[in-house]
Amino acid sequence: MGRLRRFYYDVFSNFYDLIIDLHASDRSAALRRFLVDSSGMKPGDQVLDICTGTGSVALMAGVAVEGPGGQVVALDFSHGMLKKARRKRVAKGRENVHLVQADVSRMPFADNRFDCVTCSHAMYELTETSRKKGLAEINRVLKNNGSFVMMEHEIPEKPLVRFLYYVRLTTMGSRKNRGFATDERTELRSYFSDVVKIPSPTGRSKLLSATTKKAVAPNLQK
Ligand SMILES: C[S@@+](CC[C@H](N)C(=O)[O-])C[C@H]1O[C@@H](n2cnc3c(N)ncnc32)[C@H](O)[C@@H]1O
Repeated sequence: MGRLRRFYYDVFSNFYDLIIDLHASDRSAALRRFLVDSSGMKPGDQVLDICTGTGSVALMAGVAVEGPGGQVVALDFSHGMLKKARRKRVAKGRENVHLVQADVSRMPFADNRFDCVTCSHAMYELTETSRKKGLAEINRVLKNNGSFVMMEHEIPEKPLVRFLYYVRLTTMGSRKNRGFATDERTELRSYFSDVVKIPSPTGRSKLLSATTKKAVAPNLQK
């Protein structure tokens, strides 16, 4: 099942940026900027962008954390997506962005490693099991008081678009993902504190922002 999903994204990687550009190039760049600006990441931070796809958010984050020690790790399980991300990283000369092929449910990072984890337009596409394991992993790899920020589309108002939106949720995730999409905050509160929903300027997308609160030894703090 996981292999089939990876294959789907490997094939999709060949059209992904083209489709996003045709759909809304300006809007998607503005949304990614909104995500990065709202995340609170700053120069010198360690950031993880999960389900990075072709790396658009990770590359923008690379600029935001530029400074001594500022690094972005961009994680995805699709080799095809990461190949496209690598090309974009080379074209932009963004050496503080590192690409890692891994599944969100088993991340190859130490505990308390990152200041911020971002995820754009991918949480709804995970299976329920991957999402729950992924959220536990995000909490584990974040430092105490680290932030997790995810961005998704709001439920569309137009009936046809809304229908396609629900098709995406149920085919890529599961029927239970409809519940997560209508109320992410309840599930996020099982893993994080200070969970808030922030509508995008257009109202068509939303950010869910959360903070980790855990007991860690003082020497693990930045
Ligand atoms: C719709 S794309 C979003 C890409 C990017 N974040 C963006 O906003 O353009 C979803 C991405 O999630 C990745 N993905 C899906 N399930 C995953 C998993 N279990 N572990 C790691 N990556 C996964 C896919 O390979 C794909 O690149």
